[in-house]
Amino acid sequence: VSGDAPDTHLVEVTVNGRRHRLPVPGWRTLSDLLRRDFGLTGTTLGCQEGECGSCTVLVDGQPARSCLTLAVQVADRRVETVESLDADGEPSPLQRAFRAHGALQCGFCTPAFLLLGTALLRQDPAPSATCTRRWLDAALCRCTGYQGIVDAVQAVAAGEITGEQP
Ligand code: FES
Ligand code: FES
Repeated sequence: VSGDAPDTHLVEVTVNGRRHRLPVPGWRTLSDLLRRDFGLTGTTLGCQEGECGSCTVLVDGQPARSCLTLAVQVADRRVETVESLDADGEPSPLQRAFRAHGALQCGFCTPAFLLLGTALLRQDPAPSATCTRRWLDAALCRCTGYQGIVDAVQAVAAGEITGEQP
């Protein structure tokens, strides 16, 4: 759909449960859309080359690297960022598990790990530790052995920390 300026497209997208309609330049990345247009700075940028995964968000429930995704590609789709996890003011079970298991890393990688874990637990409420580790490979942190993060996901899977959503 054409917008006002050349190469601008009118995009409808659902972000964290709210539907929006806005003009978007064709070259705008999803990470810029989220951070600049929506002020959702929980989506962080590391390499901006598709390597580190710190910019991970969920698109229709699937992890996606927002630095490599164009905003126009999420037209009519559902995007979730880390800000959605405690949208009702309460930390999600996985967020509480991260705290309980010392899984909180820095502000760059933690949002990606939380979203990856959330997506995994929705698809498979009881993933094995091996499967969890493989899944978390999508985000890179050189500062941890990932054990606390794996433990946190496993704690939710084991029902140690409960709630309606992972
Ligand atoms: S910032 Fe997107 S993969 Fe590194
Ligand atoms: S990249 Fe965040 S703690 Fe290592």
